[in-house]
Amino acid sequence: MAASVCPITDPDARAEAVQILRAGGLVAFATETVYGLGADATNETAVAKIFAAKGRPRFNPLISHVPDVATAFALGQATPAARAVAKAFWPGPLTLVLRRAEGCPIAWLTSAGLETVAIRVPGKPDARTLLAEIGHPVAAPSANRSGRVSPTTAAHVAAEDFDGLELILDGGACTVGLESTVLDVSGETPRLLRPGSVTREQIEDLVGPVDLAGQGDAITAPGMLASHYAPAAAVRLNATEVRDGEVGLDFAGQLGSETDLSPSGDPVEAAANLFALLRALDRPGVSAIAVAPVPEAGLGAAINDRLRRAAAPRD
Ligand code: TXA
Ligand code: MG
Repeated sequence: MAASVCPITDPDARAEAVQILRAGGLVAFATETVYGLGADATNETAVAKIFAAKGRPRFNPLISHVPDVATAFALGQATPAARAVAKAFWPGPLTLVLRRAEGCPIAWLTSAGLETVAIRVPGKPDARTLLAEIGHPVAAPSANRSGRVSPTTAAHVAAEDFDGLELILDGGACTVGLESTVLDVSGETPRLLRPGSVTREQIEDLVGPVDLAGQGDAITAPGMLASHYAPAAAVRLNATEVRDGEVGLDFAGQLGSETDLSPSGDPVEAAANLFALLRALDRPGVSAIAVAPVPEAGLGAAINDRLRRAAAPRD
């Protein structure tokens, strides 16, 4: 069924959006950069629906949207550089990559298993009103199918005809029209991961020299980040049995293991459980995590992409 389109300025439409998001559904909404395809960032299953709807071949980490700076720094650890750029550019078209704060409720699938989280306080006031009403961070990549251009009107979003999208909150044409600048301020030197309308020069004026991603460090495609989560234990794929010293990560009951990505064989459920279960099984003394085969169909491709990375030879 096609998603309904309602004005983001309408309190009743926002109330419906809050209900849908709290129930784990998908709502697209206007920001000043591009339209986002939103889900509750703390709900792994809801976030898995984003990847399924977009047809993403792998799990890239997603931005969590929050209504204000205080909420942002409750989720991610503020460094001096983070505070300086937040003061200057938030609310606005800037996303900060921060180390997870203690007890941060953002789902592991949202951050693709990373110890960092990407946070943005959008500049569009109606978007912030919505976020304040939801009271949870909202994960939202651009509301386009994988490989297509980002949407800057509600009609663009409607044309994507996403599976599972219930509501589009129309805020007119986006004023920026380009995805936010992504700045990693989790380390010593800030690093520009994605250029956007907040420029490198503007950032350097505030915090001094900024590293550029992509110069031999493979960070241009964050799905490929070397720091991407890989368990300490080895990972053995396409296992048909669990050997001595191993623990099993099952799919659809093939191994008879207690820990199963999805006993019913549902790829959305499996995606939602992937990072949390890999972490849970990654205990000292485990020689390997034996993973049952996961079919490639639908989200299976993204699940297998991540499993292959987790299993790849380590340096
Ligand atoms: O303008 C925007 O940023 C739009 C609107 C909807 O807010 N959102 C958007 O989200 O473009 P998304 O998920 O498509 O882009 C997220 C970017 C990607 O380049 C991703 O790899 C990077 O941020 N990213 C997210 N979390 C990260 C992390 N923990 N470390 C490094 N990069 C991260
Ligand atoms: Mg995009």
